[in-house]
Amino acid sequence: MSEYLSDHVHLSDDGTAVVILDQTQLPNRTQYLTLRTAREMYDAIQSLQVRGAPCIGICAAYDLYVLAQQADAALSAADFLSKLREQAKYLASSRPTAVNLRWALDRMLHTAEHCADRADRLSVLRDECLAIHKEDIAMCRSIAEYGLSLVKDGDGILTHCNAGPLATSRYGTALGPLFLGKERGYKFHVFSDETRPLLQGARLTSYELSRGGIDVTLICDNMASLVMKNGWVQACFVGCDRVAANGDAANKIGTSGVAILAKHYGIPFYVLGPTSTIDLNCATGEDIPIEQRDPEEIKEKFYAEPMALPEVKCYNPAFDVTDHTLISGIVTEYGICRPPYTESLRAVFDKKHAG
Ligand code: MRU
Repeated sequence: MSEYLSDHVHLSDDGTAVVILDQTQLPNRTQYLTLRTAREMYDAIQSLQVRGAPCIGICAAYDLYVLAQQADAALSAADFLSKLREQAKYLASSRPTAVNLRWALDRMLHTAEHCADRADRLSVLRDECLAIHKEDIAMCRSIAEYGLSLVKDGDGILTHCNAGPLATSRYGTALGPLFLGKERGYKFHVFSDETRPLLQGARLTSYELSRGGIDVTLICDNMASLVMKNGWVQACFVGCDRVAANGDAANKIGTSGVAILAKHYGIPFYVLGPTSTIDLNCATGEDIPIEQRDPEEIKEKFYAEPMALPEVKCYNPAFDVTDHTLISGIVTEYGICRPPYTESLRAVFDKKHAG
């Protein structure tokens, strides 16, 4: 795996800025951005220069540490915290669906709240964002191990959007088992949905897999049915942005269609994600907020000229919810949850809290 794929979000050498690989430029250009202001950080997340549920959590944690350093040293502890809460709220509003963003910011705020003086606060905040990043690497590795146990050498795997190293910190979630399998000599055949409208599957997933030496075939989203019908797919692996307590899982728009096709063809459909993506406060998928994005992404973004009349209405939800009845298993860093998810997801949290 190319080294930068595992280090595409990090603090600058002097720790006063966040450095990200601009994912909107891939696969054509490798361009890094340095983020210093809250506005730059918000825009980077909103415009998907940094993206993928776990990755925006990691990035936001670094963001908050950098912003904390900029706070006036003369601020009282209470004022410092209130400023930090305000900045966290602003960053959290950049994208509503992936719960990891809010989760990482809350974790940083909680850390700041339990600190005495300013110097202490900055050093514990630095430790905390680095810990969030490090833990994500370990979580992905564990998810990869569990995910690998679900498939065998030579299998065809279909994936949607991008849940690889670029969407996390290393290995990825849905792509983790494929990279781990590759290290162990497995030969998978991966079908990557291009993932309209922003083409994360084409621009990022096929890029990561191809660079990682894994056999990948890029398909348009509307080809998934045929590929499954041909018998070329033995399992579907997708990531997630938020999983509700009953197992309903929000992921990139189009994921639920893949799940319905998989059910039709009798192919197991797995959702892979860390426990930081599971939101037990959402009872069902109905409670998950779905981000609506600019119609320009459908009509113009990747075309030399507009592909629809300006007056044509667009509906551009960034995510959809896959009903839990379509999901064969939810793979977390603590193990594989099976239906009924209300019980198995809670059990995973019990395991997590038991240490
Ligand atoms: O809009 P994006 O590109 O951030 O959407 C990303 C996805 O839907 C991923 O599948 C999800 O965040 C899981 S990433 C491990």
